[in-house]
Amino acid sequence: MTTTASVVGGTGFTGGELLRLLDGHPEFEVVQATSRSEANKTVGGIHPNLRHMDLRFSDPADLESVDTLFACTPHGVSMGQIDEFRDAAGTVVDLSADFRLPETTYYDEYYDGHERPGLLEEAEYALPELNRENLPGADLIAAGGCNATASILGLLPLFEAGILDGDEQIVIDIKVGSSEGGAGGGAASSHAERSGVVRPYAPTGHRHEAEIEAYLGTSVSFTVHAVDMIRGASATCHIFPNGPVSKGDMWQAYRGQYEDEPFVRMASGGGGVYRYPEPKAVAGSNFAEVGFEVDPTNKRLVVFSAIDNMMKGSAGQAVHAANIALGFEETAGLEHTGFHPIGAP
Ligand SMILES: NC(=O)c1ccc[n+]([C@@H]2O[C@H](COP(=O)([O-])OP(=O)(O)OC[C@H]3O[C@@H](n4cnc5c(N)ncnc54)[C@H](OP(=O)(O)O)[C@@H]3O)[C@@H](O)[C@H]2O)c1
Repeated sequence: MTTTASVVGGTGFTGGELLRLLDGHPEFEVVQATSRSEANKTVGGIHPNLRHMDLRFSDPADLESVDTLFACTPHGVSMGQIDEFRDAAGTVVDLSADFRLPETTYYDEYYDGHERPGLLEEAEYALPELNRENLPGADLIAAGGCNATASILGLLPLFEAGILDGDEQIVIDIKVGSSEGGAGGGAASSHAERSGVVRPYAPTGHRHEAEIEAYLGTSVSFTVHAVDMIRGASATCHIFPNGPVSKGDMWQAYRGQYEDEPFVRMASGGGGVYRYPEPKAVAGSNFAEVGFEVDPTNKRLVVFSAIDNMMKGSAGQAVHAANIALGFEETAGLEHTGFHPIGAP
């Protein structure tokens, strides 16, 4: 028996990626995709890769009753409409930041407060590598943010293995593609303005800093650069540990953390051109790549992490979490790898 699904915000970038994943998923059947601006138009008219789908956008005011609703809407929409979403679906997976953070104080500091603070405790954060055990049966799921996902996956093994205590200095420099800004990304994401840039756009105080701090239990210094790619987030973390750390310690920590994870693979100084995590190598797939180097001269560890923000950083992560919540094969609908060679993703 198939599980019915709807995608609210189906014309957007993450909505389109979700439709692509659900279309190929063995368990889900997409029965609704919403858009206020494109209601009654075909899905293929907006997402040309989905021209084969026999589906038209409908107005989000007319939500159909489904098993699972994926909300791919801008920040603030889900918290305002969560009752309608939950009336329409047994499981709600929200891709926005509305239910990601565990406490209202984060929303007061980094956003404009929260309309439904009582639900924050109920929502399950969905970075399966961090929170898998709490996802089975969850009915309100908040998929992790793209930059936070890349950063947390890079740093998590160091905390789990006890290499870091939480009082060390950590500096994260992350380069991101234009699709992070969504389909309505505006001038900053237009082809002419984006082409060729390595443009710092959030040197301090980025909202994902809150998410990293909330789930790793440590403060981080976080800076984002907009670069000339469409898909991808590439995090470089500079860490200054309190004592010496060997390469063997690092391998033990990362292998221990990720050897059984279906969507995390190591890329750490092997041979060939792509010796460290590379967004191009994971584009279109749900893989995250993680790697590191040890710099004893400067008492520094350097950790790299790369994801496709549209996949592991949003739609893929949401499907992965839904698979676990609903008891499906964890990797269902997500088993494909990316392409090589390809142009800039
Ligand atoms: N892009 C990424 O890499 C990424 C990664 C992780 C998480 N996210 C989060 O995922 C969410 C969606 O991001 P996106 O990049 O897909 O955005 P997007 O491309 O701008 O798409 C937003 C979608 O939401 C719909 N929408 C806007 N306001 C709405 C409202 N009031 N009610 C119902 N639908 C509404 C829009 O269609 P209509 O206006 O036609 O209704 C559109 O389909 C955001 O919260 C974002 O922060 C994005």
